[in-house]
Amino acid sequence: MDRDEPPVQPHPNGAAAGGILATVLGTGKRLSVNGGPAPPAALSYHRSMPSRTPVILDCDPGHDDALAITLALARPELDLLAVTTVAGNAPLEATTRNALRVLTLLGRTAIPVAAGAPRPLVRPLHVAVNVHGTSGLDGADLPEPGFAARPEHAVELMRALIEASPEPVTLIPTGPLTNIALLIRTYPRLLERVSRICLMGGAVGEGNVTASAEFNIWADPDAAAIVFEAGRPLTMIGLDVTHLALVSAADAARMAALGTRTGRVFADLLEFFGRFHRERYGWDGSPIHDAVAVAHVALPGLVRTETCRVDIETTSELTRGRTVADRAGLTGRDPNAEIGLGIDRGRFVDLLVGAVAAFA
Ligand code: BDR
Ligand code: CA
Repeated sequence: MDRDEPPVQPHPNGAAAGGILATVLGTGKRLSVNGGPAPPAALSYHRSMPSRTPVILDCDPGHDDALAITLALARPELDLLAVTTVAGNAPLEATTRNALRVLTLLGRTAIPVAAGAPRPLVRPLHVAVNVHGTSGLDGADLPEPGFAARPEHAVELMRALIEASPEPVTLIPTGPLTNIALLIRTYPRLLERVSRICLMGGAVGEGNVTASAEFNIWADPDAAAIVFEAGRPLTMIGLDVTHLALVSAADAARMAALGTRTGRVFADLLEFFGRFHRERYGWDGSPIHDAVAVAHVALPGLVRTETCRVDIETTSELTRGRTVADRAGLTGRDPNAEIGLGIDRGRFVDLLVGAVAAFA
């Protein structure tokens, strides 16, 4: 782990919700660390401790989503307010169940989970069984969910948390952008309370579901177009950078060597995920796409970025979901996105291993 980065802390199981969550969910308890118990005042208000960025992770777990959740919980720079789910890698019921199982594994059952859209805005649902297996999270012995999803729609949970947060909230979508588009269209005035959107999706270069497009954007291009045109600061963590962030079998072995249940589960998940990438690309390792988006919010210098105009192809079937990045300024249009282009792989892998090591 980089010397300048505060180490992650182990989190106890069965933590209670507090702070914004307490207000929104009606528990009345005080500020918490990522849904864990309130830290001693000396720790939480030490003057050298930077304030934590409130984030909501909207995801479709998914192997790399599972590591994104883990990283978001482990990093002291972030305050994970909620995990919301969307159909993508698997149907909504499965992605929601997977989010609950991952949080149960990590002992973070006070993090609220709410299910959102069961299908893209206008197109039929296509899931990624070939990559993530039929459950969406095949390959490891995950626990059954130890708690239930909240009854309200993901958009309503996001609204309540954004309204209640004293600080503007960062959205980290790591699945199709259906829920985020619904939030933008349903509560447009809430956008001023969203400081930025840092999403995993898209590619300047070639795609991974078609030659033109990356899965999350291809799955719901109409939603993506709404999000990219929302006018909020937006970062596109696309395949150009995530394909540089491979986690190898040797890296997975470091997780297994931790000797913890969490380490074993993630080593097994990575082995399953690695099979697809070995067969499709001949790689020793898997791109942990979604965790790069989380890492970029936690550690702003980690990903090298460039700013440009990005538009989403919604009409052509051949190039459906292409993120058309105008890096040369040919359109003359104002930039609307920061795009990820490079990453320090070793540092990223250390972050992931450190995050997994923070849990029993
Ligand atoms: C994206 O698609 C999903 O399969 C992954 O979870 C990631 O969010 C990569 O294209
Ligand atoms: Ca995902």
